[in-house]
Amino acid sequence: MARPKIALIGAGQIGGTLAHLAALKELGDVVLFDIAEGTPEGKALDIAESGPSEGFDANLKGTQDYADIAGADVCIVTAGVPRKPGMSRDDLLGINLKVMKSVGEGIRDNAPDAFVICITNPLDAMVWALREFSGMPHEKVVGMAGVLDSARFRHFLSLEFGVSMKDVSAFVLGGHGDTMVPLTRYSTVAGVPLPDLVKMGWTTQDKLDAIVQRTRDGGAEIVGLLKTGSAFYAPATSAIEMAEAYLKDQKRVLPCAAWCDGQFGLKGLYVGVPTVIGAGGIERIVEIQMTKDEQAMFDNSVNAVKGLVDACKGIDDSLS
Ligand code: APR
Repeated sequence: MARPKIALIGAGQIGGTLAHLAALKELGDVVLFDIAEGTPEGKALDIAESGPSEGFDANLKGTQDYADIAGADVCIVTAGVPRKPGMSRDDLLGINLKVMKSVGEGIRDNAPDAFVICITNPLDAMVWALREFSGMPHEKVVGMAGVLDSARFRHFLSLEFGVSMKDVSAFVLGGHGDTMVPLTRYSTVAGVPLPDLVKMGWTTQDKLDAIVQRTRDGGAEIVGLLKTGSAFYAPATSAIEMAEAYLKDQKRVLPCAAWCDGQFGLKGLYVGVPTVIGAGGIERIVEIQMTKDEQAMFDNSVNAVKGLVDACKGIDDSLS
């Protein structure tokens, strides 16, 4: 059987890391597409040259031609600009919206059956626009945010509790922005919910609140440290987890920016919710019960996403 084909649209910091991880994990052959001449070719060759030492079997190709992504099984989109210190993800809207138009059309015309994972920010609005421009089925176009946000939450929790992050599971809902909703009630250490761990005296509510806030600010913390761009190792790893779930029909339960039409009372919106990812793409949205407070935080986040989608419609008439 031929190897799966993975097309990476954008060969910058995240794109290069995605290519490296996909090759190391032998998920398939990789095509790196970018408008910057030489960048995708250089990264493809550099990673290919690590193959003999690492011992992976994967072909890598860099290109400026959308025809080279033809028939891709998975497309991961990072094309666009990242933020600089002092910028919010929302500041990227105008410029990255134009990028989503060309990328959406390029995927539609060359890889219409692919599972598409968008990483470009502001995420929830960009995945919506990418789906609109591509016209592809909603269950095959998804945004990567929740896996990353919950990975950050899990990392901070494992440090606080002094336990392996393998035993920490965490739940983050809503938009990928300042309004994201880390749900402590559904987050656990070895199955014990965080509020119970506070009652047991393993941590305090204040410390937990600080971890929740650090999770919300997780992207900005990295931007502030790097100064020249945003996070790329963890975002790439998160998207690869989603791609692998699709390619191997793993039925993973992962939080993603997925199309909700009816679920959670939403009428057609991309927002971070728990999903099941398998060979059908987003096979299911898991409609958890929320308390009044959680629902209020989720509603607030949904409104922020709606505001960004409206802003997109204001910029590009073809979207309204
Ligand atoms: N088509 C293809 N590639 C493009 C286009 C386009 N229209 N416009 C820009 N690019 C490419 C750039 O040439 C660059 O190589 O996208 C790449 C982006 O890479 P980086 O600037 O290194 O950004 P990165 O850190 O990878 O982040 C990409 O993901 O997390 C988000 O906020 C982040 O929106 C940003 C995106």
